[in-house]
Amino acid sequence: MTYQTIEVRKLTPVIGAEIYGVDLSKPLGNQQFQEIHDAWMENLVIFFRDQQLTVDQHLDFGRRFGKLHLHPAAHQPEKNPEILIIKADEKSKHVAGEEWHSDVSCDAEPPMGSLLHLTEVPPDGGGDTMFANMYRAYETLSEPIRKMISGMKAVHDGKHVYERPGYREGAMYPRSEHPMVRTHPVTGRQALFVNRGFTTRIVGLSRNESAAILEMLYRHIEMPELCVRFKWQPNSMACWDNRCAQHHALFDYFPHRRYGHRVTVAGDKPFYRAAA
Ligand code: SIN
Repeated sequence: MTYQTIEVRKLTPVIGAEIYGVDLSKPLGNQQFQEIHDAWMENLVIFFRDQQLTVDQHLDFGRRFGKLHLHPAAHQPEKNPEILIIKADEKSKHVAGEEWHSDVSCDAEPPMGSLLHLTEVPPDGGGDTMFANMYRAYETLSEPIRKMISGMKAVHDGKHVYERPGYREGAMYPRSEHPMVRTHPVTGRQALFVNRGFTTRIVGLSRNESAAILEMLYRHIEMPELCVRFKWQPNSMACWDNRCAQHHALFDYFPHRRYGHRVTVAGDKPFYRAAA
């Protein structure tokens, strides 16, 4: 793809690109916004450097992609409930997203995308985020496995993720059934849609069958060849497409601080459409 208003530098042939020539604190013209959107769809996760953003500017950028998503269980800032605070310090035992996952896939309509802006990063490195390409994960399965799982559903449960310190007590934990292979509504491509964080069971299989197949798929998803590893700097922004990418936040920097805000764009109900 060629771009007129932005520069797109791929980080791997499989997933991830850095975008240059954009100031996200300013309103984006239609062509530049469209090119950012196209680069996002093409690369699954895009990164921007040196973006000094206020909360309102971050929210405005998110709203260009659609309605914003409200987290079902996180503590939300009173003034801006669409902001999810991502924070770790010397008291943290865990951090959000410390497992391969697709954000809030337990929702009936899981978020389309997430836009994370970090302002503080650990002083000695660490705190990278890994992203994996779920189109490629699906395409590199053998044909018999692709055939078997296409059209099957799996349960995604929020209870074991959110029923712990750091989340709102007494929140309702979403639980949903989604196709194990989903058709991306923009690109039309098939993506593997089960994740270690939220997916608990394949519908219609025995417990043993389900556990064995899910474990095989999780190992496949975690192959390094499907991944990019992003090194944050203060004021970096990462935008990932939850419909076709999974991510994993590395917690290797205790007791240092890492801080930022995530704005999450609402999505729609996952569906599977067999290729014509
Ligand atoms: C998340 O949104 O899952 C956290 C990602 C990160 O902190 O890198």
